[in-house]
Amino acid sequence: MINKLEPKPNLYLHIDGDIPEDLNKGTLISLQRSTPMKIYNLGFQPAKSIPEIPRWFLQKYASFPFKILEPFAGGGTTIIESIKCGISIDWLDYHPLSRLICQVKTSIFSVTEVEEEITKILQSAYSHQKSPETIDFANKDFWFQQGVQEGLEILRYYILKSPKTIQPIMWLAFASTVRKTSNMNDGMILAARRSHIKEIPKLSRSDVFKYFQIYGNKTIDAVIEWQPLIETNIHLVKQLALADARTISGDIKYNAVVSSPPYINAIDYVWASKFELHWLGMVKSNQERLNLYSQEIGTERIPKQECKELSKTGYQLLDKLIEDIYLGKKYQASTGQNQLRARVVYKYFMDMQEHFQSCFSCLKTGGYYCFSIGDLSKICGVDIPVASILTEIACDIGFQEEFHFHLLLKNRKLNIPRNVNWASTIKHDTVVVLEKPFSLMDNG
Ligand SMILES: C[S@@+](CC[C@H](N)C(=O)[O-])C[C@H]1O[C@@H](n2cnc3c(N)ncnc32)[C@H](O)[C@@H]1O
Repeated sequence: MINKLEPKPNLYLHIDGDIPEDLNKGTLISLQRSTPMKIYNLGFQPAKSIPEIPRWFLQKYASFPFKILEPFAGGGTTIIESIKCGISIDWLDYHPLSRLICQVKTSIFSVTEVEEEITKILQSAYSHQKSPETIDFANKDFWFQQGVQEGLEILRYYILKSPKTIQPIMWLAFASTVRKTSNMNDGMILAARRSHIKEIPKLSRSDVFKYFQIYGNKTIDAVIEWQPLIETNIHLVKQLALADARTISGDIKYNAVVSSPPYINAIDYVWASKFELHWLGMVKSNQERLNLYSQEIGTERIPKQECKELSKTGYQLLDKLIEDIYLGKKYQASTGQNQLRARVVYKYFMDMQEHFQSCFSCLKTGGYYCFSIGDLSKICGVDIPVASILTEIACDIGFQEEFHFHLLLKNRKLNIPRNVNWASTIKHDTVVVLEKPFSLMDNG
């Protein structure tokens, strides 16, 4: 069984480069990573996993032919790794920005056409007078200076006119431009400001165009490095016509699910990408954005009435932890906050149960589910051993635990300092491999 984690630093096995296949079960590792290909870092994904984890899984468990499902594709780390290994992969993600990022990483583009189009867009943009206001959302004027808004509207106008085949690349460069030219402080994950930074740099329309050129060039660099691999293996990758990882269905049977599900109480993916969602027209209103957030596993958008209830999951330890949060046993915020957090935890694990159930049905017998998850999580002062609870839930469905290890998180965006009474920094990723066992009927 997976243990609660609070290891001392000298307990770590230090590894340079790739995670070895012959790692002992339960090892705590600290990884010195080599510089990854540029394609991995293309596009904003606040909880990007590291390629070493799917790479380790594929090297240890995959044999040809092998087909993978990635139900929380995010920035596409597992997709890229599978393509590099020549392994088939189907993917989905409920978030439109993640889908755009993965589409760019799994398409073939003519680099010359992209370069020419960026030049053409910028030439037209610099001489353009004004575009009508097409985008509106709450607090737009607070987050975007007037000249920036004008620049973004102009870029949108020309991107919409660009050839459909290369538009995804233009939108991705535009998405980075939106983030960079907002009044959000550099390096922030969420649309929020640090109180000690009072001065917001003044930006103009031409700054917007300058950043679009910079992000366009970065995208082109990544694409140039990546194109030879994707050109050879494009037939291996498919986006599923599904968006919600809780209700995966279909006739295909996979050899493995390889993913990193959302971390509990860590990142609100919709809030984190609020500006991109609106400026790219991925949501048409504030309400649409909030509705999108309701579908997120780990959402905090739960009706107040529902939060008053202290429901039972049927898992003894989990129910005790939820009750401790609800009653404020370790940390009393406000009654409403404690009740909300308790419900968020309840819903997170029940959503993951639904997800495991649907993955169990679409796996072959003898197939695997490999997930990595931030562990431990502290919520209202209560430590939640997320990986071991998820493992218990999965095993209840019919999986068997096959392997696990723990990875020290270094310089990851999730490593954000928080109020230590209330929450805390997530120190590790726990990687778990589950197996769908052969049943007696399969053998007979
Ligand atoms: C930890 S991130 C995955 C990171 C990814 N492995 C990578 O390397 O970039 C979790 C992802 O789950 C997605 N997600 C959250 N709720 C979902 C749901 N109900 N269905 C599908 N995807 C969901 C989020 O949009 C996010 O991209």
